[in-house]
Amino acid sequence: MKPIIAPSVLSANFGNLHRDCVMINESQADWFHIDIMDGLFVPNLSFGFPVLKSIQQVATKPLDVHLMIVDPDRYLETFKDHGAWQISVHIEVCTHLHRTVQKIKSMGVKAGVAVNPHTLVTLLEDIIGDLDLVILMSVNPGFGGQKFIERTYEKTARLKEMIVKTSSSCLIEIDGGVNNENAPRLIQAGADVLVAGNFVFSSANPKETIAALKSIG
Ligand code: DX5
Ligand code: ZN
Repeated sequence: MKPIIAPSVLSANFGNLHRDCVMINESQADWFHIDIMDGLFVPNLSFGFPVLKSIQQVATKPLDVHLMIVDPDRYLETFKDHGAWQISVHIEVCTHLHRTVQKIKSMGVKAGVAVNPHTLVTLLEDIIGDLDLVILMSVNPGFGGQKFIERTYEKTARLKEMIVKTSSSCLIEIDGGVNNENAPRLIQAGADVLVAGNFVFSSANPKETIAALKSIG
């Protein structure tokens, strides 16, 4: 199965954001991966609603919004209004994760849960049937261009096993340090979606890099 490719806009050139969004539109990418950081849950700030609005206006593909923020419930409606097609929240900040997931789904938006590298996937057992997506963080969230954590292969396989066992239709997205070297093994382990920021945007030909990732599997 060919992977779903979600270039991370975090690595785009914000002075040429329109150009980089058009590039994603014209490429073989499937989704726009949108990283929202609050400087609290993660030690970095990314961008907020005005920038998201600009992306929404040009993007012709679904917006896959990854919230790295505390208290995400406060902003779910606003993200929906800014074109979010899928919203993922971090398990580490959601005291009432089931409620948050139901809220996202009740808005007609796809619901995902992101887990940090140290978080056990077994914590998802009782919610996996409600999810459209699990984001396995293969770096500690907060920055683009970090080194891929090798343990992610095994973690992907364990999550895939859980998904198959529960007959869930949830997809597995790998986020952080993805490139053409680790992508084949990730897909083999059960990954469905590959986020790629630095690997795409620092390459000489981002469209070809996206096509190369898409052809794996
Ligand atoms: C990291 C973000 C990622 C990041 C991926 O906190 O969630 O989506 O943009 O970028 P690369 O592919 O450069 O690791
Ligand atoms: Zn992300």
